[in-house]
Amino acid sequence: MCAATRSNLLISLLVCFKLSIATCVVAETIDPHRLYEDRCSGCHAAHAGDFVYGSIDYSSGGGIGRKTSKRLHEFLTEGHGGLSARQIDALLDLFLGIHARGRVFRDKCRVCHDRAAELARSRLIIRNGRLMGRYSGRDIEDFLSHHGRLEGEEVEMMTQTLEGHFRATMH
Ligand code: HEC
Ligand code: HEC
Repeated sequence: MCAATRSNLLISLLVCFKLSIATCVVAETIDPHRLYEDRCSGCHAAHAGDFVYGSIDYSSGGGIGRKTSKRLHEFLTEGHGGLSARQIDALLDLFLGIHARGRVFRDKCRVCHDRAAELARSRLIIRNGRLMGRYSGRDIEDFLSHHGRLEGEEVEMMTQTLEGHFRATMH
């Protein structure tokens, strides 16, 4: 674990030196998308986004399974999926993020654009590490700061969402 994090993150390296081995293991980063794909997608939707939209209801605050009416956090803590507490937290953050981004798109974009994934696939491209309009040549983050009535952090969040969709189409 130490070696793996050390090559990636200077911060982790410092943590490794300063604190115990146990803390070093804890400092290992979890990739929640991969976690979902490794541990959940065998029985559920292939991608976390589809699982969140299809199976989790956030209308009452915390997530609840649509079929089972089980509270997500409790259900996983009780052992469904066999995850550690940290893995559960990482996955629940991912799910909540997906839900929040989906809501912004639905509220502010869907009247004019059908689906975020379709928009990304048909209109966008990554050039020099930046998300750009495939035909317009626009820098999308700049464009979104005055398009679609996004506010504050929503601009960066939506840019990342569209970029994520674009990258997913390249697989
Ligand atoms: C071996 C198969 C299997 C694996 C692996 C699995 N699940 Fe499930 N899960 C089920 C079954 C079966 C149900 C019962 C409801 C259903 O049929 O969809 C369920 C239900 C759920 C529900 C409630 C859904 C609802 O609509 O009420 C959630 C949330 C859930 N699983 C999350 C997860 C997560 C997160 C993971 C990965 C950490 C995971 N599951 C891994 C089989 C699995
Ligand atoms: C009132 C209708 C409307 C709404 C609401 C809207 N858009 Fe658009 N959007 C358009 C139109 C029309 C274009 C094409 C404009 C152009 O290329 O000059 C466009 C273009 C885009 C492009 C492509 C830019 C390019 O350079 O090819 C992106 C990305 C985009 N919109 C994202 C969004 C997002 C994200 C939201 C929600 C926050 C949103 N739009 C809300 C009408 C809308």
